[in-house]
Amino acid sequence: MDASDMGADLKKVLLSADDISTRLAEMAAQVDEDYADKDVLLVGVLKGAALVMADFVRALHLPAQMDWMAVSSYGSGTKSSGVVRIIKDLDTDLTGRHVLVVEDIIDSGLTLSWLVANLSSRGAASVEVLALLRKPDAAKVHVDVRYTGFEIPDEFVVGYGLDYAEHYRGLPFVGTLAPHVYES
Ligand code: PRP
Repeated sequence: MDASDMGADLKKVLLSADDISTRLAEMAAQVDEDYADKDVLLVGVLKGAALVMADFVRALHLPAQMDWMAVSSYGSGTKSSGVVRIIKDLDTDLTGRHVLVVEDIIDSGLTLSWLVANLSSRGAASVEVLALLRKPDAAKVHVDVRYTGFEIPDEFVVGYGLDYAEHYRGLPFVGTLAPHVYES
């Protein structure tokens, strides 16, 4: 899938595929250094983080393990409420583990705030967060994020795992959506 497949639904490309892969390589080098003497467990949050995880884990030199969670936020519409339900839990026992949560985006921060508390309560040795995107202007709660790819404006973004009504996750870049798509 590329920009031509979106037609007029794409407002603009915010981060190109090259921007993303360059930044992920930098973040992977930092994680390689920080976890050099640790056995890191990457926890991807479905579905959005699937593309970040796939590229990030291939940029790492560490033999990281991977596991996945799917969570759903109770509440109306597309906004997080902070009350989270686990749809798919981890297969891995976190006791003594060094966990690095891999997220595509932090919007209000409510999902991640809940998730970090939940994972920390399972006896992990450490729980840190890597997020490709962060919207500082949309934050409702503070979340400590050790690795942030890009800070972006509070606009509707799609691509590279991010969806609008489950569409556009397969775009290799992050783009902003034309208002006529979500206002119609
Ligand atoms: C997105 C994203 C984060 C969350 C961020 O997931 O992947 O998990 O929203 O929002 P917040 O900071 O306001 O809590 P979403 O619930 O859209 O599910 P998806 O990953 O399946 O698209």
